[in-house]
Amino acid sequence: MAFKGEKNDKINEDQIKLIEAAQKRVKQKKFLFFHFSLMIFGNISFLVINLLFEFKKEIIFFNYPWSYLAITFWFLLFLMHTYNVFITNKFMGKNWEEKQIKKLVSKQEIKIAKIKMEFEKEARIKAESEIFNQNNSGNCITLIAAASENNVIGNDNKLIWHLSDDLKHFKELTKGHCVIMGRKTFESMPKALPNRTNIVITRKNNYEAKDAIVVHSIHEALEKAENDNQPFIIGGGEIYRQSILISDRIELTRVHAKLDGDAFFPEIDYKIWNEVSSEKRFKDEKHDFDFTFIRYNKK
Ligand SMILES: NC(=O)c1ccc[n+]([C@@H]2O[C@H](COP(=O)([O-])OP(=O)(O)OC[C@H]3O[C@@H](n4cnc5c(N)ncnc54)[C@H](OP(=O)(O)O)[C@@H]3O)[C@@H](O)[C@H]2O)c1
Repeated sequence: MAFKGEKNDKINEDQIKLIEAAQKRVKQKKFLFFHFSLMIFGNISFLVINLLFEFKKEIIFFNYPWSYLAITFWFLLFLMHTYNVFITNKFMGKNWEEKQIKKLVSKQEIKIAKIKMEFEKEARIKAESEIFNQNNSGNCITLIAAASENNVIGNDNKLIWHLSDDLKHFKELTKGHCVIMGRKTFESMPKALPNRTNIVITRKNNYEAKDAIVVHSIHEALEKAENDNQPFIIGGGEIYRQSILISDRIELTRVHAKLDGDAFFPEIDYKIWNEVSSEKRFKDEKHDFDFTFIRYNKK
């Protein structure tokens, strides 16, 4: 359009704890198995030494040779070890599971609350838009934007392409009209756009914008532009998203590339929007990509 302007790959703490607990558990079980093997070997050795080679044959406990007592004692020791591994030190036991479930539930609750808030916000915007549409049928509110095929319009508060004819197209269409924009878009430009009434939307109370009118909502911006038969909403992503439902026309420059960015044009709903004209232009030294000027009117 007209001017220039984590993913978090980290394994989270819970996952690390889970891995550490699993590693400990494997070690514990390995050690138990080692103990079992050692006990079998030791006990057979006791029997062989005591009964076959008759070592200390004279030592008798309750009428049994000493090897029997040694075997029983070791077996009891092994039972205690098994109890310790499977009952006392169960790292991922019931308590641990309950703790994990509680954590998961609280995470889900936070997610649900966020979705609910988003939903309420969208519903409010929709309701306000419907009221606005009923009260306002005089002028043609127009969104004007340039967006890549994956709807990217900018990155890091800058435009991400140079398209000379798009700048001219923007200038031609908006000349003499009101241009309404979000505070971030305004700040991405070197100065207010000349020969147009610049209207900047912000939630900040004492915001000052040189050569521009400052307002605090989209509806207030449109009120300021009520004498204009075609006010233009010129971005960025936040403002497009909130105003697409109250607009009558979209002047979209579709840039034929898939690009990375952090600001997006909303998805166009073709049940609502009708393409009425389109004009394709090709990449050259003044244009980074092929692009098409498309006009949509609300059905
Ligand atoms: N390709 C294009 O056609 C095009 C056109 C324009 C912009 N862009 C790009 O888009 C990006 C900027 O877009 P963006 O989404 O980050 O920001 P933006 O829409 O330009 O501005 C967002 C700001 O507008 C204010 N705002 C939003 N909704 C409001 C409301 N309901 N009431 C009052 N104030 C409200 C807030 O300002 P405060 O924080 O001050 O409260 C908010 O931070 C940049 O990369 C720019 O280059 C591209």
